[in-house]
Amino acid sequence: MAYKNIIVEIRGKVGLVTLNRPQALNALNEALVAELNEALSDFESTPEIGCTVIAGAEKAFAAGADVKEMAQKGYIESYLGKFLDGWTRIAETRKPVIAAVSGFCLGGGLELAMMCDIIIASETARFALPEITLGIMPGAGGTQRLPRFIGKAKAMDMILTGRMMDATEAERCGLVARVVAPERLLEESLAAAAKIASYSQPIVMMAKETVNRAQETALSEGTRFERRLFLSMFATDDQKEGMKAFIEKRKPSFRGR
Ligand code: CAA
Repeated sequence: MAYKNIIVEIRGKVGLVTLNRPQALNALNEALVAELNEALSDFESTPEIGCTVIAGAEKAFAAGADVKEMAQKGYIESYLGKFLDGWTRIAETRKPVIAAVSGFCLGGGLELAMMCDIIIASETARFALPEITLGIMPGAGGTQRLPRFIGKAKAMDMILTGRMMDATEAERCGLVARVVAPERLLEESLAAAAKIASYSQPIVMMAKETVNRAQETALSEGTRFERRLFLSMFATDDQKEGMKAFIEKRKPSFRGR
């Protein structure tokens, strides 16, 4: 597929997608989301790729859903056309995805980042769910995911006032994993992704699936699921290799089996 709204690259074992609609601060239109889904699905089915990084531009990771595309939509048309259904595809990826966020990360842009597994932010990052200012509310998971990241008090504050949160506050309240200097954002995100991709792919995927379970189930059910997958790892060659290498004081050589 020839991409018009994103740039797709492969860096070693890492897939890199750069959102590329600078004229609209990377506002997410339907074409961009379709391309992003296509690229992610390619990475999912490429065995050599172990992790993906989604980046934006310096000024904006993404300034939200494309308001110009949405403005004239009607209810029935949106309902029948399953508007926003494709947006959650990213939350279903099995390999890890890192969002490298610089500048504005607003509305659907923040919802996209929250569907990734790790958010690494530049000191310039600004987060908001400003939908309320447009006479709507978040529609791509924001009302559900934000409270899970930062708790009800701050989520209500953000969603009902539409205010922006800077990178320091975002790290303090658990929205982002790391804050780095702007010039180090891509390098640090790619390095984290390369590290993840260097491990046993099936074990990484099982670890991701198990952490995500914590968001969706009761603690007792989540820990039971964790135990089942943990024990299953002892059927893999990579567990044998990882532990043997530790005992032999050498680097493991994982084969994804
Ligand atoms: N949709 C469409 N176009 C957008 C856009 C968006 N979300 N955000 C910015 N743009 C466009 C602007 O219209 C402008 O285009 P023109 O040059 O053709 O006028 C261009 O990008 C540059 O933007 P600004 O001139 O506004 O740049 P700025 O630096 O003055 O302001 C900003 C930056 C504060 C991010 C401002 O652009 C802004 O408030 N954008 C909208 C943010 C927003 O409301 N996002 C939520 C969208 S709704 C949503 O996401 C729903 C959902 O849950 C799925």
